Amino acid sequence: MADLAISLAGLELRNPILSASGTFGHGLEMQHIVAPSAVGGLVSKTVTREPRAGNPMPRICETEAGFLNSIGLENRGIEAYLTDTLPEVAGADTVILTNIGGRSAEDFGELAAMLDERDEVDGLEINLSCPNVQGGRLPYSTDPAVAEDVVRRVRSATTKPIFAKLSPNVTRIADIAVAVECGGADGITAVNTILGMSVDWRTGRPGLNTVMGGFSGVSLKPIALRCAWECVRAVQIPVIGCGGIGTADDVLEFLVVGCAAVQIGTASFGDPGLLGRLPAELSERLDAAGIAAARDVIGSLEVAARTREVPGGST
Ligand code: FUM
Repeated sequence: MADLAISLAGLELRNPILSASGTFGHGLEMQHIVAPSAVGGLVSKTVTREPRAGNPMPRICETEAGFLNSIGLENRGIEAYLTDTLPEVAGADTVILTNIGGRSAEDFGELAAMLDERDEVDGLEINLSCPNVQGGRLPYSTDPAVAEDVVRRVRSATTKPIFAKLSPNVTRIADIAVAVECGGADGITAVNTILGMSVDWRTGRPGLNTVMGGFSGVSLKPIALRCAWECVRAVQIPVIGCGGIGTADDVLEFLVVGCAAVQIGTASFGDPGLLGRLPAELSERLDAAGIAAARDVIGSLEVAARTREVPGGST
């Protein structure tokens, strides 16, 4: 059987497959379907300083090509997370990343400080990129200086590994990747959802109460793959691929472009047991190809020399 173990910013994962924030509860809600020990890691739903009720319904909407959401970071807040959720997570036999979201740059630092002493948490994912608050303005993930400032505040508040989750809703994601690396991020998650909307022409109503929301699912994959590749080329820190991944072949595509790991998001809604099966399917693919270890695939993309040499990509 192929060796699936990978190192990720100092964390040792048994395989490169993690849940994506917001698609798997805090991780343990799903343990009757997916054993935590089956996956490389679990990423929590975003935790904020104060409890949040989230956006008004409807806040989920299917489209012909994927899924729109505008949950609005519903969660019980950091105090409940520290008191109720983390003790439950304590026995989880996998890597736990807590995803944090702030209303302000200061919030991010405070959240990181509150989580820093909790042994249940192996690392933090910084949600710079939720498109469903502040009217889709994405204040932390579209301006390199702001993104760097947020990451720097988190960096100074914790010694745990920190991963910055970036948005595809930018012209040059590489600039944001470089900024968060400068701010002290240990890794990058690329990417969150892309802004979209749907409308029913008969009723004249939008699919989501907030009109715009985050689009995800298999149609996001080519965009996510391109974003991940641009990040990989721009920084030295590891990149976790995320967006439209639903099969072992998808996982391998992200590893080939240079990602050290991947997150599975929307695919889990249609197939909640997928995360638990993917590692074995990944091993089968590698065995069939005669590849001894998943890490041997990472960064094996073959591109024409001319493409490699042009900063910013393209031909
Ligand atoms: O609306 C939400 O809770 C989504 C969060 C995200 O995409 O980061």
